[in-house]
Amino acid sequence: MPTEISTGFNPHRRRFLQASATAAAVAILPLESSSSQSFPSNLVASPADAALVLDHGPVTKVWAFNETVPGPLLRYRQGDTLSLMVENKLDQPTTVHWHGLRVPIGMDGVPHLSQKPIDPGDSFHYQFKLEDAGTFWYHPHFASSQQVGMGLHGVLIVDEYEPVAVDRDVVWVLDDWRLDQDAQILPFESNMRDTSHNGRLGNVVTVNGTIDEKFEVHPGERLRLRLVNVANARTFALNFNDLEPWVIAVDGHPINPRRLDQSLAPLGSGQRMDLIVDIAGNPGEVSSVIDQAYAPNFAYELMQLVRTDNSTSIQNSVPKRLADNPVSPPDLVHAKRISFLFEGGAMGGMTGATVEGEFKTIQELVGLGKVWSLNGIVQNDVHLDPPMFTLELGQSYIFELENRTAWEHPFHLHGHSFQVISRNGEPLAEQFTRDTVLLQPEESAEIAFLADNPGKWMFHCHILEHQDAGMTSVIEII
Ligand code: C2O
Ligand code: CU
Repeated sequence: MPTEISTGFNPHRRRFLQASATAAAVAILPLESSSSQSFPSNLVASPADAALVLDHGPVTKVWAFNETVPGPLLRYRQGDTLSLMVENKLDQPTTVHWHGLRVPIGMDGVPHLSQKPIDPGDSFHYQFKLEDAGTFWYHPHFASSQQVGMGLHGVLIVDEYEPVAVDRDVVWVLDDWRLDQDAQILPFESNMRDTSHNGRLGNVVTVNGTIDEKFEVHPGERLRLRLVNVANARTFALNFNDLEPWVIAVDGHPINPRRLDQSLAPLGSGQRMDLIVDIAGNPGEVSSVIDQAYAPNFAYELMQLVRTDNSTSIQNSVPKRLADNPVSPPDLVHAKRISFLFEGGAMGGMTGATVEGEFKTIQELVGLGKVWSLNGIVQNDVHLDPPMFTLELGQSYIFELENRTAWEHPFHLHGHSFQVISRNGEPLAEQFTRDTVLLQPEESAEIAFLADNPGKWMFHCHILEHQDAGMTSVIEII
């Protein structure tokens, strides 16, 4: 259920103001660029102005990388080395976490756990090899709810050695914002309703940092459409209706191409999905893309695909499967099992949990703003608390996740990619490799991975307000 907010912006439609009829200001990457790199030499986090609501209102004061929302698109080739200086021009510390990339611990961007926070005025140099191809993203891991929510995020694409042939390679950064009447971001103050429900949902949805909802397409063309959910809390589930896209990758990792259906569509916070969309139809026709993540309560039109001139290219064969990334598969026969029980939140039965070794009642927990637990433990300060589990380097693990709450939770593991091997006790026919798994209310799932990257890694809910409120843990691999 979406949060109801009493501002001038109606959360039930994206077009709270009529969008302009100009062409969508989205990141359209010509085919040629799919083999060329593009990145700045540094990323600067600073306050900036963003035209989120276009010419329908004032500019919005945001925090951004290189003064753009989303931040600059970083694009590399598989096997390249990323080398970027991150400069902090905010008035609080920050870091950058490379979501989904399997990096050495010192580059993971978790304050205190993997590096010292970057203080205002300071810089930090990130450098690591890009082992995996796919669609990834970057964001701070310091005061995440506020910093990511203020606009600090960007997409990082690593091109395959052999990318799938398409006419255009396009990114849609899906985000939402909680704006007041003057299009300014409402304060990030602790709000027990957000915390105990599904996090800070916005009242305005943007694609690539604007409310513009027209996207030009050409009948006959084949698009690679990379969906990236950078919202603090919102799940998106896009329905392309008659266009029936193919899904070719999830969280950057290839799958056997299959049609996007409603079982596959939900994209939780942090997750990505690469689609192949073949544009059928004739010039002048318009198709709607509907977000129905919270249907039947509500659904809204996210984007209109507006057909202009024909394209000459007609490729509607089944797209070929991309080559797997070099992720070592877990040994399921000898894997050790670890259980994670999720409890808490509104309409949950949690009566209390342990904080820093001391049992607290639910009333006391609410007082602390900590209403979610993992295995009966509420993590307070992850870098001070001992790791929840210590894993052996080189050993395979199956994490049994049990969501005993009334809310969905996208769970993200740092430093590794895992396979989702079962849901609700049912083995899955195809075991997707991912870095974030979305659990529905009361759902259980098993994920498996080889613990091959030493360090102290976070394993947390990517609804950033849940993470803040205790739904986080550290596993140490030694
Ligand atoms: Cu995208 Cu620990 O996060
Ligand atoms: Cu959660």
